[in-house]
Amino acid sequence: MKKTKIAVFCSGGGTNLQALLDAEKSGAIESGKICLVLANNSSAYALERAKNAGVPTAVVTRRQTGSQEAFEAEILRLLQEYGIELIVLAGFMSILSENFTSKYPKRIINIHPSLIPSFCGKGFYGLHVHEAALAYGVKVTGATVHFVNEIPDGGQIILQKAVKVHKGDTPEKLQRRVMEQAEWKILPAACEKVAREIAIKGEKYEHIQNQ
Ligand code: GRF
Repeated sequence: MKKTKIAVFCSGGGTNLQALLDAEKSGAIESGKICLVLANNSSAYALERAKNAGVPTAVVTRRQTGSQEAFEAEILRLLQEYGIELIVLAGFMSILSENFTSKYPKRIINIHPSLIPSFCGKGFYGLHVHEAALAYGVKVTGATVHFVNEIPDGGQIILQKAVKVHKGDTPEKLQRRVMEQAEWKILPAACEKVAREIAIKGEKYEHIQNQ
């Protein structure tokens, strides 16, 4: 079965990207191939991780392209060039408009560091999510992988994993535990699940085409 071509979008350290690269290497991701890592800034360490793994990289910045439309047009051009079928947002901090997301229905997935619908939506990203969870006093938090549509963190949920909050947790300690115990496990699993569905669909389509 043909492997689904995957692009991973990053903005920062790329630990979720690393989990995906390691999963592809170990065979935990067998239905997809990471063909492109795209960052919205040239200092993202995720780019180093991609280069170390021999994966092509690209940097597209909002400033360089001058407008949201030009920014998204350049990203779409690269996705076409690499024949990308599945986009994984792994700590990607740029907005993607409905005009963009509507071109990849059920083909964009995102990792969010809480159990959606808690602590999600506008303004809930990175450490802010864990600060809100601690402020609320939840005993359990976690991470969610969901499809991306025009509503921030609003798409259908694919996988979730719960993580215990410990007494005396700081946002940083909680963030690390959620990454280690949840994000780095469910993002590769969700990526394999969706990549497999796309590959099977593609195979069926080819089969029908060739009849
Ligand atoms: C992670 O906490 C993830 O939940 C959030 O952004 C962070 C990305 O970290 N979306 P990294 O770049 O994958 O290390």
